[in-house]
Amino acid sequence: MKSIFTRFLPLAALGVAALLAGCERPPIQSVQTGYRGTGMLQVYNPRILNEQIPNHQPPGTPPVPASPDGPRAKDVLKNVQVLGDTGVAEFTNLMTAITAWVSPKEGCAYCHNLQDMADDSKYAKVVARRMIQMTQHVNADWKPHVAGTGVTCYTCHRGEPVPAQAWVTAKSQDKRSDFIGNLDGQNQPAMSVGLASLPYDPFTPYLLKGEKIAVQATSALPQGHVASIQATEGTYALMFHMSYALGVNCTYCHNSRSFNNWPESSPKRGIAWHGIRMVGDLNNAYLEPLTKTVPATRLGPEGDIPKVSCATCHQGAYKPVYGAQMAKDYPALLGAPTKAAATAALPPPVAEPTRSVLYFGVGSPVLDAAQSAGLGALIELLKSSPKVMATISGFHSAAGTLAQNQDLAKQRAFNVRDALVAAGIPATRVALAKPQQTEANVAGEDPTARRVEVTVR
Ligand code: HEC
Ligand code: HEC
Ligand code: HEC
Ligand code: HEC
Repeated sequence: MKSIFTRFLPLAALGVAALLAGCERPPIQSVQTGYRGTGMLQVYNPRILNEQIPNHQPPGTPPVPASPDGPRAKDVLKNVQVLGDTGVAEFTNLMTAITAWVSPKEGCAYCHNLQDMADDSKYAKVVARRMIQMTQHVNADWKPHVAGTGVTCYTCHRGEPVPAQAWVTAKSQDKRSDFIGNLDGQNQPAMSVGLASLPYDPFTPYLLKGEKIAVQATSALPQGHVASIQATEGTYALMFHMSYALGVNCTYCHNSRSFNNWPESSPKRGIAWHGIRMVGDLNNAYLEPLTKTVPATRLGPEGDIPKVSCATCHQGAYKPVYGAQMAKDYPALLGAPTKAAATAALPPPVAEPTRSVLYFGVGSPVLDAAQSAGLGALIELLKSSPKVMATISGFHSAAGTLAQNQDLAKQRAFNVRDALVAAGIPATRVALAKPQQTEANVAGEDPTARRVEVTVR
């Protein structure tokens, strides 16, 4: 008996060691992020966190702060189509920075024909010009996600011409080589979904095609199907990607008691909601149209260009580069809101003492400053009469799909509520009411339909 024991002890010890090798060495710390009792906490390993810190440091600021004065780039240079109104000093700073962010090994020659800097024969320069516009668009038009922090080329590129965390559509399953039905990308552990046995390509449906992300029943004992099993698995796959990309748990955004419930979710979930729309916008409006510009060797197995996911910017951090404020040093990358024209065309807000109507840009949940001025009288009334309650209803135009529009109407209402709360009105005095008529109106893209109505009682 003893001899058997001693003979197998080393083997057993080896087995235990092998098992434990898959575990994370302590210490583990948790940080509470929600109300106590809700289990809304983040689990961190300080040792691993410390190891990651160097990966999320910003590169240096420009050696000479650029002077906004002096001649414009377009007056001095030959072929500046996007940065023409930039001062020459800042233009030079930006070219130096872009080289450090995107092609430090290859230098200016990655984009330029060094004999003639104005020449556009290198594809990389053509792509880079569009990337400058994309960066400006993110910084100017996606403030609900990137806030004042914004992004630079470094946020995604980190010294590589193709961002390490770009994605392409996965090769479709070869159905002739096996007798299995559609695997839907499952049972093949992939980092894209944190090694979970979930569809490994949550990107194409949700971050390119904009498929709907709502799979939970909103009532007890629901009738019929809320969503297919495939849509549910896909949604969870996307959520795993999001958690993994940000290095957080599900409870960073959700109260896991009820994943779909917005009032119980953390404010981060609202930021993430805008993030999902922003990524879809960048992939459709900027990356996909560049497919024919880049060499075929860049394309994935299905012939698509590398695109953006949450990880492209975040790379495992809750805020990319731990929220470093890099964009402010390069004013040319901040851009001017391209939606300015659309919002300027909005009808003026209705500002009556007991009723406000605020209008929104096409497809936009963002409450524009001129429109929010329409809340002034209402805020006065709420402040002077503490018993008065405000009710908010969001509406949408007829263009587009109903489900997405209802979502948009809801988000518009949330943003107006946030504006009231920001003005000092307690959230308990603001109620959200689903309007009677949520069906789309019949008039197509009617600017007066894209509105939020606030009434007080
Ligand atoms: C990642 C690509 C990229 C890199 C690297 C790059 N540039 Fe540029 N450069 C551009 C783009 C794009 C434009 C055009 C901008 C526009 O149209 O507004 C441009 C324009 C220029 C122009 C204006 C040429 C003209 O007369 O029209 C000069 C000068 C220039 N770059 C200098 C440099 C220098 C010097 C370096 C290296 C330190 C550099 N660039 C590195 C992308 C790049
Ligand atoms: C939101 C993330 C993101 C930001 C910000 C971004 N890029 Fe990109 N960039 C990408 C992705 C994804 C690709 C991959 C497409 C491809 O292969 O061409 C790419 C490709 C490129 C390429 C082509 C590389 C090659 O050889 O194929 C250049 C050049 C480039 N970016 C320059 C820039 C510059 C300059 C900026 C800042 C003004 C910038 N990018 C900002 C995501 C980004
Ligand atoms: C960074 C924030 C964030 C994290 C982390 C996150 N989610 Fe989500 N989740 C969202 C947002 C935003 C939506 C709504 C998306 C939409 O409507 O477009 C959502 C939607 C969902 C839904 C669908 C709810 C419905 O209406 O049917 C489920 C289920 C879900 N998440 C589960 C999870 C799980 C499980 C995890 C952890 C693996 C997780 N989420 C991590 C932000 C997050
Ligand atoms: C173009 C780059 C970019 C992409 C792509 C991106 N984000 Fe972000 N995200 C940012 C920046 C920049 C911030 C920091 C904003 C700030 O300082 O408040 C941020 C902040 C956030 C926050 C708030 C974190 C906090 O603690 O306040 C969440 C949540 C988030 N992102 C989720 C997502 C999700 C989910 C996706 C993918 C659907 C995504 N992001 C894609 C740039 C990006």
